[in-house]
Amino acid sequence: MRNLYLALDVETRDEAFHLLKRFSNRPAVKVGMELFYREGARFVEELVDGGYPVFLDVKVHDIPETARRTMRQIGKLGVAVTNVHTLGGEKMMRYALDGLRQENDTTRLIGVTQLTSTDERMMQIELGIAGRLDQAVLRQATLAKQAGLDGVVASVQEAKAIHQKLGDTFMTVTPGIRLGGTEDDQVRIATPHEARLAGVHSIVVGRPITRATDPMAMYDQFMKEWGQMNETNR
Ligand code: C5P
Repeated sequence: MRNLYLALDVETRDEAFHLLKRFSNRPAVKVGMELFYREGARFVEELVDGGYPVFLDVKVHDIPETARRTMRQIGKLGVAVTNVHTLGGEKMMRYALDGLRQENDTTRLIGVTQLTSTDERMMQIELGIAGRLDQAVLRQATLAKQAGLDGVVASVQEAKAIHQKLGDTFMTVTPGIRLGGTEDDQVRIATPHEARLAGVHSIVVGRPITRATDPMAMYDQFMKEWGQMNETNR
């Protein structure tokens, strides 16, 4: 399902619900490490029980058996989507999927390729990955598909090539979404409209909405450009 996942990048459960109270609908939300490490599984269950589609963005990256056991626990939460890091390798991804499937058949498992804050130079020099960034992303996405994952997290810039090689049903979830003119730590950015043109499945938007004076109005603006107004999220 196409979604806009609102990144709940706040410190506490109370802050998260305070923000969500400003919405007249139940937006799809992304819970990242900050909130998960603080509030844990109970909070995620509270969101799921409250009718919020949840993307649990914890980027699991560990030895295969630990990834499997971790995903088994995540599988109990009933979230819509969760993720592992593709750099953990194919075996780790397979084990993670196996763990998740021991608990449920519905949670989608996707793999993080290269963070949207990473540029090519940093990838080559700091991470020691040679070659072009788009090729590295495509390679990691291919590995994720071979491992049986449902899709990947990448930037809009790589989404088209991913769909061309791996098919339209292979999910792409893209952070780094901006309406234009914003500067922060994200490097590979794009607008919601560009995301739609690239065939992206779901976008992730955080600060542009959460830090807006009127988050709901800003959310609507993103939804309008994303082309999903009055559809899935309402
Ligand atoms: O505030 P902003 O819109 O930049 O938020 C993007 C969100 O997506 C953050 O929660 C960040 O952790 C997450 N993310 C990302 N790049 C990835 C994977 C997740 O920016 N590759």
